[in-house]
Amino acid sequence: MSEPRILIVDDEPDMVENVTRILRRAGHRCTGVTDPARALALLESDRPDLLLTDLKMPEVDGLTLLRRARTLDPALPVVVITAFASIESAVAAIKEGAFDYLPKNFSVDQLTVVVERALRQRRLQLENVNLRAQLQTTFAFDNVLGRSPAMAEVFELVRKAARSEANILVVGESGTGKELIARAVHANSPRAAQPFVPVDCASLPENLLESELFGHEKGAFTGAVRTKPGLVEVAAGGTLFLDEIGELPLGLQVKLLRALQERQIRRVGGTVLVDVDVRVVSATNRDLAAAIARGEFREELYYRVNVIEIRLPPLRERTGDVRLLAAAFLKRYGQGRVLGYDETAMAALEAYRWPGNVRELQNVVERACALAETQTITARDLPATVLAGGRPASAAAGEVPAALKQAATGDVGLREAKDRWMSVLEASYLRDLLERHGGNVSAAAKTAGIDRKTFHRLINKHGLKT
Ligand SMILES: Nc1ncnc2c1ncn2[C@@H]1O[C@H](COP(=O)(O)OP(=O)(O)OP(=O)(O)O)[C@@H](O)[C@H]1O
Ligand SMILES: [Mg+2]
Repeated sequence: MSEPRILIVDDEPDMVENVTRILRRAGHRCTGVTDPARALALLESDRPDLLLTDLKMPEVDGLTLLRRARTLDPALPVVVITAFASIESAVAAIKEGAFDYLPKNFSVDQLTVVVERALRQRRLQLENVNLRAQLQTTFAFDNVLGRSPAMAEVFELVRKAARSEANILVVGESGTGKELIARAVHANSPRAAQPFVPVDCASLPENLLESELFGHEKGAFTGAVRTKPGLVEVAAGGTLFLDEIGELPLGLQVKLLRALQERQIRRVGGTVLVDVDVRVVSATNRDLAAAIARGEFREELYYRVNVIEIRLPPLRERTGDVRLLAAAFLKRYGQGRVLGYDETAMAALEAYRWPGNVRELQNVVERACALAETQTITARDLPATVLAGGRPASAAAGEVPAALKQAATGDVGLREAKDRWMSVLEASYLRDLLERHGGNVSAAAKTAGIDRKTFHRLINKHGLKT
């Protein structure tokens, strides 16, 4: 709480002046007003930390002000000032949530003590609220993990967007968790009890996708032996998730746009219109604005599905999240057998650029868990690409890659350092060689000047794919 602010309300100007003077002298920032209506406005615009109010005032009485204040800011302490120490009205105020009351003939001490107590309560409340909000946003949103500021922003937006009925477009590089976010939106929306129906717009040719989306009548085409409702109908009352919407063929874009505008569809081969009630969440890793410019995506559809855009940052921009995710995936795949990472391995994970984002990290951890021979994952259990800091292996000749540097840092003997360097270099060299020979082990082994069996052993040791 920055410097706390106190709002004082009483219809008697003397009283306001008196209280304001005492509190200012005690070092507080105060605003005093005699008009309760003005106080209401200030409650909204100024967000004070403490409200001191008279109970009996013409127009708006103190209790109304108190109620209004508490709905605006449930953590706001309110101290009521009661004439003649009328206990009943004070009790009524406390029941309504007032923090405490003061008789009109209060002493300076009484006033300052109650104000200090109220402000302390305010501070604790705020800390609590912040703490709770932080816990919620920094660690997880449903199954979506993240504690980076970038993800905290995403969670905040997901929470707000979920409450609305607006169509949402989730954009982000491959593997950033777009589907996970789409599911979180649904799960936190009023439609949560209704179905979440994913449709992969990239997986089917246009005509099949059309009948998948909108359904078909019996006999609409060869093979349509019975009437089948489309996924848009199946999602009734719930959420339709259009994955890879950027891949939707133009013809279907037009049909989808019409369906969303008219909230009705016609099955393939059908004549009747069927009402549809869906909220659409879409995802894409394409730049739709560019697709629109190239005439590959309908602008009207874009505005229809993109009322709220949720942009997922790439993993490399989520400071601190690699460590958090790596730990979570280790729990999942380590099955109690693999328990941690050594420093070199963790440093390599954190330095890598993760072009495949969270999915790539997940795969790397799963693989490392399978390879780990002890309870601890070491650099040996990580793919050469990760160890090379994401740069092509050939770059290793020009400079010392980050992972190589890290491999030999810490208090290790020269021999250990050499071994680690060699292991990283060896993996990098082999990967490069395999790549240049298109995965042909015999050819790569020949170039390397070692026999196939040895080459295979090395491939396994470094967990390289052929
Ligand atoms: N923040 C996260 N916390 C935990 N797991 C995550 C997170 N983000 C992604 N994942 C996991 O990573 C994998 C990829 O996520 P998802 O399929 O949602 O990504 P995507 O953006 O839809 O990828 P693509 O563009 O390839 O379709 C999933 O297994 C998902 O559970
Ligand atoms: Mg996806």
